[in-house]
Amino acid sequence: MDAAMQRLTVDLGKRSYPILIGDGLIGDIGAHVAPLLKRPRTMIVTDAHVAPHYLAAVEASFAKAGVATSSLILDPGEGSKSWAGLARLTEWLIGEGVERSDHVVALGGGVIGDLVGFACAIVKRGCAFVQVPTTLLAQVDSSVGGKTAINVAAGKNLIGSFHQPALVVIDPATLATLPRRELGAGYAEVVKYGLIDDADFFAWCEAHGAALLAGDGAARHHAIAHSVAAKARIVAADERETQDVRALLNLGHSFGHALEAETGYSDKLLHGEAVAAGMALAHRFSAAQGLCPAADAARVAAHLAAVGLPHDLSGAGVDADGETLAAHMAHDKKVRGGKLPLILTRGIGQSFVTDAYGLDKVAAFLDGERGR
Ligand code: NAD
Ligand code: GLY
Repeated sequence: MDAAMQRLTVDLGKRSYPILIGDGLIGDIGAHVAPLLKRPRTMIVTDAHVAPHYLAAVEASFAKAGVATSSLILDPGEGSKSWAGLARLTEWLIGEGVERSDHVVALGGGVIGDLVGFACAIVKRGCAFVQVPTTLLAQVDSSVGGKTAINVAAGKNLIGSFHQPALVVIDPATLATLPRRELGAGYAEVVKYGLIDDADFFAWCEAHGAALLAGDGAARHHAIAHSVAAKARIVAADERETQDVRALLNLGHSFGHALEAETGYSDKLLHGEAVAAGMALAHRFSAAQGLCPAADAARVAAHLAAVGLPHDLSGAGVDADGETLAAHMAHDKKVRGGKLPLILTRGIGQSFVTDAYGLDKVAAFLDGERGR
């Protein structure tokens, strides 16, 4: 094993799988995937932003390991995570003669990972896949845990399945080519792990977040490994989000969802940016209900501001009233029995799930946030 490579496990019994983390790992991916294969053949799926940087290295690595490859390059962006994208990908896999025991490689961000994962859940009633995440968001969140989906007209991620990868290979060096704004959006998900249940890690983020974003390799490796270990623990405890454990990963997402809906799920506000503002709102809402010290809510906003992430409605580019935003929240797919469970907090690192607060209260709070 490479001395610099770290190995974690998502513990799911017979469906357990390793997560490998190390700079330069994609140049060695063939050696890690080949032992999983029943025949020396794999299919690689990526997008047109990622391909020019990393596809040749991945293909060469498989060739070196004696594994034949074919590759599909999709359009970048959420548009590929669609019925049309799914049709194109599944037809291509079938045309390539995919077999159930094959391991398809998803090389890219969360869009490629979610789409390939879902295609592999359904093609020929299911084949295996390997996640090779190349955005910070995908490296710390979406590549682990087996949530796969496409978007439809009624909303994001509404058609999908739980389908765990067979292996996750994280090469933090790929972040060198990621646009700074995408890096920041992924960093919001790193901060989230501190805010959920790990106050020490939030303090680490306050001390090292700026360096991580500026390119500090050691800080990046630490943040990715720490985040992924947290995610692996949560997924192992509550794979299908039935026990209010995995739901904690949605901290900031209900408020964030309203902001994304209001900005039309567009480049005006990236998902991670919406999560950042959503986490700040969840903390201030908790403080307004007397659940959380106001000083903790202020500390969260201050850190997000320090790294250039939005922490309020105006920073997110949203000027809607509370009722409009709460109406978006009411359409959240997490609504249960007409109630929206919110992830609130008793302080930094003390998040919990509750449906004790109605959307009328949330609407009144968001009205107060307007013009803040
Ligand atoms: P993305 O996949 O769209 O990637 C962002 C942009 O960066 C794209 O333009 C992409 O082409 C480009 N890119 C990717 N890697 C690059 C690199 N190394 N260098 C240069 N450019 C690169 O977006 P994302 O933020 O990674 O993922 C967002 C998606 O993830 C959403 O669809 C969201 O629903 C999903 N998601 C899923 C889960 C899950 O648990 N499955 C969790 C969170 C988010
Ligand atoms: N990103 C949320 C989850 O995996 O549950």
